[in-house]
Amino acid sequence: MSKVFYKAFAVSLIIFLTVNLIFAQDREIVTSDSAMVVSAHPLASEIGLDVLQKGGNAVDAAIAVQFALSVVYPRAGNIGGGGFMVVRTDTANYALDFREKAPVLATSDMFLDGNGNVRPLSSTHGHLASGVPGTVDGMIRAYERFGSLPWEDLIQPAIDLAINGFPLTEREAQKLNQNVDQILRINTVKPDFLKQNYYQTGDTIRFDELGLTLTRILNNKRDGFYEGETARLIMEEMKRGGGIINRIDLENYQSVWRDPYSFWYKNYKVITMPPPSSGGVALHQLFQIMERYPIGEWGFHDPLTVHLMIEAERRVFADRAAYLGDPDFVDVPAEILVDSVYLDGRMENFDTLKATPSGLIYAGEMPEESTETTHFSIVDKWGNAVAVTTTLNGNYGSKVVVGGAGFFLNNEMDDFSVKVGEKNMFGLVGGSANVIEPEKRMLSSMTPTILEKDSSLYMVLGSPGGPTIITTVFQTILNVIEFEMNMQQAVEAGRFHHQWKPDQVYMEIEAFDDELVEQLRSMGHKFKMRREIGSVDAILIRDDGKLEGGADPRGDDTAKGY
Ligand code: GLY
Repeated sequence: MSKVFYKAFAVSLIIFLTVNLIFAQDREIVTSDSAMVVSAHPLASEIGLDVLQKGGNAVDAAIAVQFALSVVYPRAGNIGGGGFMVVRTDTANYALDFREKAPVLATSDMFLDGNGNVRPLSSTHGHLASGVPGTVDGMIRAYERFGSLPWEDLIQPAIDLAINGFPLTEREAQKLNQNVDQILRINTVKPDFLKQNYYQTGDTIRFDELGLTLTRILNNKRDGFYEGETARLIMEEMKRGGGIINRIDLENYQSVWRDPYSFWYKNYKVITMPPPSSGGVALHQLFQIMERYPIGEWGFHDPLTVHLMIEAERRVFADRAAYLGDPDFVDVPAEILVDSVYLDGRMENFDTLKATPSGLIYAGEMPEESTETTHFSIVDKWGNAVAVTTTLNGNYGSKVVVGGAGFFLNNEMDDFSVKVGEKNMFGLVGGSANVIEPEKRMLSSMTPTILEKDSSLYMVLGSPGGPTIITTVFQTILNVIEFEMNMQQAVEAGRFHHQWKPDQVYMEIEAFDDELVEQLRSMGHKFKMRREIGSVDAILIRDDGKLEGGADPRGDDTAKGY
């Protein structure tokens, strides 16, 4: 008996040591008993935690975190952008679409010159690049349905940060320094918060005008943004900068409750975002393909596992370009795309030994700086879960700050097919389903996702990163389910990404060892190194009921729980 016990103990110890050596992690795992917030900034996570400790639910905390991020993380957190929220309660699941819309005056050729060529930077920089912001309406809709604490309790903490100021982290000081010149060049009125041209870690920054705008939202809710003083300041900004968002756009903007996109992977139910996100459909395709192969047995970063994942990603992104768009404007053939016979066909030319060329030679680039979006995950003491991914698109969006109102506007118009067949700033090739039309929502890759295991809450996650969001969420889930990592290890593990065109695998530096890269090269894969791919904030509900945070060390991301 004791011999058997010692043998079992020794085997467990070896497995434990092996797993921990292979999946080394930078950060301690944060665990908690009741509730948790994981977001891109420690101050925002702290505010979310306060709301939860005061008795607020996960949606209350999400609203407070969203407003806090608009202050402390202004390059992606926002009130001038949009996003998606997925909510799971004991009784039902919900998906809120507060994605920006094209202005009513937008046209399919608004970014083209007289010869039909894309005017460089016109869809990414400056006033025309902005879609009609959806975040404030989204937060109000979420509050109307789920809010339990007073509205002011959710927004006052953000106002206090804006007006009293807060210290810049090293990363945020650097990002600001990299962008100050451009922000000054693009804006007709100097943003009030830019008091210096060079920032150091720990410098205090204040956003007085943003504090006033948030106060108007506190006092007047929707009318504090889409009407009155804030709307007037947006109109003036559009006039000064030659933008086209008008009063009708602001009055008409409505976020939409949609049916979440749900599917099964083995015994896990995946609850995520439907179109206009491409994330849900693409994830479903990827997992359907994975289910045909024993990748858990092949192992993490085994050449065959990685080759299969790349080949699946390549095919799924080709479908994304061709078929996905705003479901209010185009028919998205989601059922066909995830049909198993269709996917059999897609994988028919999958060769276990060779990469399948993506077809045309394409010289698209994916600039490092253009991946800014942010995600946060929250679980409350009742087991409600919220996954929110929210964005300005690029770093500081269009770089336009609404004069007198102190917030950045998005550059989400670049997520449309600015010209069919041309690449956008992510190198994604645009299809006709995603052409610009007045009041249409641009296709997104944001994939806030919640998983159930055996009908219980299991995981909450999401990431920034443009198209790499989908592959990042996909890989993080597989890291836990198939490769038995804990949440923090799964978040930290090296990532890779293929998006059909350009025909190359984006790979984080040192994600693969040299031998694996050589093996994949010999199969025909081409590599392009990237410093970072995605930044996941996730929560895992362990078998013992504890919550385990995964806060991405690629950013200042922080997990806090109680
Ligand atoms: N702006 C990034 C996305 O929505 O995919």
